[in-house]
Amino acid sequence: METITVCGFGGSLRKASYNRALLRAAVELAPEGMQVALFDRLGELPLYNPDVEAAGLPEPVAALKAALGAADAILVATPEYNYGIPAPLKNAIDWASRPPTGSPLNRKPALIIGCSPGIGGTIRAQLAVRQAFVFTQTHALPGPEFILPRCADKFDGELRLVDEKTRTFLAERLAALGEYTVRLRGGPESGARNPELSRAHA
Ligand code: FNR
Repeated sequence: METITVCGFGGSLRKASYNRALLRAAVELAPEGMQVALFDRLGELPLYNPDVEAAGLPEPVAALKAALGAADAILVATPEYNYGIPAPLKNAIDWASRPPTGSPLNRKPALIIGCSPGIGGTIRAQLAVRQAFVFTQTHALPGPEFILPRCADKFDGELRLVDEKTRTFLAERLAALGEYTVRLRGGPESGARNPELSRAHA
């Protein structure tokens, strides 16, 4: 596999987040030739406000956009809050999506993952992220989806992902992201939004 850099970020701000732990496992389980770097500053982003954006990008926003822009692919680990995307993650997507033409999300391949202690496994939140990625023209990897319900017993006391089946599946999905990224490299540059659709959504 060619060298692929992945920018990973999650939607939980809490220290003992299972989704952050899942991202740490992804760093470890990335296949040869893939490097996953985590962007863990979502709590520093101000709420998206076009007035703030017009006055100049706050440093954490610029850092987010730079991290995404430098990456070949994206990894998103979303918790589920009230059947949807937690606010910090949606806020980060909103910041990164602007302006619609030239956003670092445009045409980037993305793997969406998530876990929850309950039975839903973040399936609804993941679909909501996928829906946002329609507008940003981000290439969300097709299924099988990485849904991890009842996640509490998949991690040990130090939040290391210890469940072998889950580790294998995560490694497989990361490898699939790598293959998808290579396949998409033949197409238009990431950051190049489809101009027809840009007109439709201006
Ligand atoms: C939750 N949780 C939750 N879980 C779920 O599967 N579906 C849901 O809709 C919700 N809704 C929800 C709302 C709010 C405000 C909170 C605080 C929690 C539970 C959630 O999955 C659990 O707290 C996870 O541990 C959150 O992910 P992290 O922080 O462990 O990554």
